Amino acid sequence: MAASKKLATAAVLVSLLALLVGPSAGLLDLCPVFVGWGALQSLLNSLICGLPGGNYTPPTVPSNPLGFGYYNNSNNNASYCPDAEAAVTAAVEKAIKQQGRGVGAGIIRLFFHDAFVRGCDASVLLNNTVAAGNNTEREGPPNKDSLRGFDVIDAAKEATKAACGGRNVVSCADILALAARDASHILSNGRIKFAMPTGRFDGRESFARETIQLPGPDSTLEDLVRMFKVQGLNETDVVTLSGAHSIGRARCLFLTKDRLSAMNSTYAGQLNETCKINDTVNQDPFSPDRDPNNLDNQYYKNIDKFVLFKSDAVLLSSETTKKQVEANAANATKFEADFAAAMVKMGNIGVKTTHVPGVTEIREVCWRVNNA
Ligand code: HEM
Ligand SMILES: *[C@@H]1O[C@H](CO)[C@@H](O)[C@H](O)[C@H]1NC(C)=O
Ligand SMILES: *[C@@H]1O[C@H](CO)[C@@H](O)[C@H](O)[C@H]1NC(C)=O
Ligand SMILES: *[C@@H]1O[C@H](CO)[C@@H](O)[C@H](O)[C@H]1NC(C)=O
Ligand SMILES: *[C@@H]1O[C@H](CO)[C@@H](O)[C@H](O)[C@H]1NC(C)=O
Ligand SMILES: *[C@@H]1O[C@H](CO)[C@@H](O)[C@H](O)[C@H]1NC(C)=O
Ligand SMILES: *[C@@H]1O[C@H](CO)[C@@H](O)[C@H](O)[C@H]1NC(C)=O
Ligand SMILES: *[C@@H]1O[C@H](CO)[C@@H](O)[C@H](O)[C@H]1NC(C)=O
Ligand SMILES: *[C@@H]1O[C@H](CO)[C@@H](O)[C@H](O)[C@H]1NC(C)=O
Ligand SMILES: *[C@@H]1O[C@H](CO)[C@@H](O)[C@H](O)[C@H]1NC(C)=O
Repeated sequence: MAASKKLATAAVLVSLLALLVGPSAGLLDLCPVFVGWGALQSLLNSLICGLPGGNYTPPTVPSNPLGFGYYNNSNNNASYCPDAEAAVTAAVEKAIKQQGRGVGAGIIRLFFHDAFVRGCDASVLLNNTVAAGNNTEREGPPNKDSLRGFDVIDAAKEATKAACGGRNVVSCADILALAARDASHILSNGRIKFAMPTGRFDGRESFARETIQLPGPDSTLEDLVRMFKVQGLNETDVVTLSGAHSIGRARCLFLTKDRLSAMNSTYAGQLNETCKINDTVNQDPFSPDRDPNNLDNQYYKNIDKFVLFKSDAVLLSSETTKKQVEANAANATKFEADFAAAMVKMGNIGVKTTHVPGVTEIREVCWRVNNA
């Protein structure tokens, strides 16, 4: 009874949405089909159908470019806060000290998942919006029960306020970008060090449905290149940024029989055993000192028999990407330099760089919009 009522409501919603969107948009647009998400794919498809959102295309050119040291510009009192970046760095260092290096991996992935959905506007941090209710990006199956590090961003937000004389000056989007930079620095043991441009404003919308823009563990190389291209990133960036899979953990539910049988059999056997007692496994089995959270070029040596996902293994499936995998495996310095540049490039995706009342803002609290 309750279930059929729910279904009927969903059907009404879908037809209402169809009316709203207009006759040119068919049901196909309303029920987009996720690809590449393996065990989560059917969940994604059933969840997303009929939910709001999905009409957003990131602007290719921001209204203002980002700049280095945006909070250091004493000609702009509204954003002047010279200690802002140091406050974020201290918050990330403290969290890693308290929680371990894995949370740094969580922060780097948060930044990626923010950038790919509505641009780098901290939409991934919201868990409560008017338009989406609780069905924000955080509820999308790629993110739910998976993303971590929200608490670090919340703490960094408070730290920036304290560092800026109690003023709310630093956007959550900038905090996340700076925190991802700092996490890269720490997890690479100081080898990946770069400046992150700032000046992003926070958005006010976030929809679970739009997590369809995230590639999944079963994505083919074609899928990956296409999904990165939409964001203004190219095939080189796919290979470079995938190097982040030298850190962090992944859910066992992605390790299907098919996938395990494509890996080194000894390693697959170990993963199979770990998954009997745990829900997650480390992504990189071979980092120096057996620290699975060393951000390094080991990932490229792991491909293709010691990586967890098809989306990792397929980097050998074209001549150009294979060459880049081999070059990165052979030259750690090259990977580190490329990774730093690609993180900056990712940090420019769809940025909102002007204050448009009701559309962009500097959030007071990173998980909810102002005056919610
Ligand atoms: C190329 C396409 C990519 C695919 C298909 C992909 C897919 C995935 C999947 C399925 C997981 C495991 C999540 C879970 O089990 O819940 C994961 C983890 C992770 N990914 Fe990716 N990813 C991609 C690119 C990236 C990029 C660009 C970055 C950052 C630069 C990144 C950073 C990470 C990190 C750090 C983790 C571990 C997170 C943690 O331990 O909390 N990935 N990825
Ligand atoms: C901002 O200015 C402070 C104080 O002069 C300095 O320590 C810091 O390195 C500067 N930060 C950036 C990103 O330029
Ligand atoms: C910035 O604030 C100072 C005082 O705190 C003031 O003298 C100055 O005119 C302000 N500058 C701008 C550009 O508003
Ligand atoms: C949103 O989630 C919170 C906490 O999980 C819950 O208390 C609240 O009732 C939810 N609101 C809606 C509209 O579902
Ligand atoms: C939203 O997420 C924050 C952490 O970022 C958490 O503290 C808060 O309780 C959550 N609120 C709701 C309504 O789920
Ligand atoms: C991708 O873009 C970077 C610059 O952002 C450039 O160095 C690289 O050559 C490009 N790769 C391809 C395949 O166009
Ligand atoms: C995992 O282990 C079980 C027995 O413990 C075995 O039956 C199964 O075939 C293993 N699966 C893979 C993919 O290795
Ligand atoms: C799997 O990897 C181990 C090293 O961890 C190696 O000794 C073994 O030969 C590999 N197995 C196959 C089938 O390649
Ligand atoms: C089990 O998972 C937790 C994180 O959820 C991790 O801290 C722990 O090291 C894992 N244990 C093994 C044996 O992988
Ligand atoms: C490794 O890469 C760096 C940075 O791209 C480059 O300067 C250096 O010459 C490369 N080293 C070798 C041995 O190719």
